Amino acid sequence: MSEAAEPALGVVGAGVMGTAIAVLAIGHGIPVVLVDVSEDRLAGARRRVEAQLRHARLMGAAPAEVAAGLTTTVELAAVAGATAVVEAVTEDAEIKAKVLGEASSLVAAGTPLVSNTSGIPIGELGRLVARPDELVGIHFMNPAYLITMVEVIRSARTSDATMTAITELLARMGRRGIVVRDAPGFVTSRLLHPMINEAARLVAAGVAGAESVDDLMRGCLGHATGPLRTADMIGLDNLVDALSTLAERTGEERFQPCELLREKVAAGHLGLKSGKGFYEYEKVLT
Ligand SMILES: NC(=O)c1ccc[n+]([C@@H]2O[C@H](COP(=O)([O-])OP(=O)(O)OC[C@H]3O[C@@H](n4cnc5c(N)ncnc54)[C@H](O)[C@@H]3O)[C@@H](O)[C@H]2O)c1
Repeated sequence: MSEAAEPALGVVGAGVMGTAIAVLAIGHGIPVVLVDVSEDRLAGARRRVEAQLRHARLMGAAPAEVAAGLTTTVELAAVAGATAVVEAVTEDAEIKAKVLGEASSLVAAGTPLVSNTSGIPIGELGRLVARPDELVGIHFMNPAYLITMVEVIRSARTSDATMTAITELLARMGRRGIVVRDAPGFVTSRLLHPMINEAARLVAAGVAGAESVDDLMRGCLGHATGPLRTADMIGLDNLVDALSTLAERTGEERFQPCELLREKVAAGHLGLKSGKGFYEYEKVLT
């Protein structure tokens, strides 16, 4: 893919979410510089971006005639000229705070810094950021290039100017944000993740198989995919990290990731991205 011609959106972390956020931006004409820690990860990410861009267009989620360039790199310094930086690295407060701190020292004042964390409070992630008023949370849903609503997390320090800038960015990508206050898990993860945890506990207890749990939630309660297929899409490793974040920050035992989730992660059964989780998948694009 070609070099970005206009200032790019920086996306740090080229996993499940970083890739899909890159697809969303490119598909709406915004060039992207995508950063990860290894060329291997980036090679896989480039393959997924191509496949997902085709998927987005097929679904009518990205205009067919619009596309922008993708640059991939292991150098965080490449985000220096970005219009905004989206952090989508592993759900680990230390790693995220460090990445956001470094990114803030690289970009020009007035450049919004966005964390895509599933539930670590934004205020907490801003401790190393040069200008905490420029930090905001945007919790993109998975897949980010198909789901048009996002959860926007305004920390106590996020400025009006930052909110205006990211509202414009989201509008350009055809996204609508609902703004919530900063809290562990925000709204969506606080509600969804314990439901998935409980669904896994039901499977572990032998009350029903994964497919029956999902069928009941879809057929009776109108859930789009069922909690356990959703878990596979999220990535069970990410889910365990996000549940642990909730447990640590709320002190509530119910958020502790259940044994079955931990066992699957220990066995490398991470869901869609590894080919096996609660379900098995034929084609894994890494
Ligand atoms: N998976 C989901 O459905 C989902 C949905 C919404 C939000 N999120 C959040 O998005 C973030 C990313 O999740 P994911 O599912 O894409 O995880 P992932 O494990 O698929 O990808 C994380 C990526 O970050 C990279 N990374 C780690 N440290 C880095 C560093 N210092 N610099 C650059 N890259 C680094 C890893 O190499 C990896 O490629 C997490 O905070 C997660 O909670 C995930």
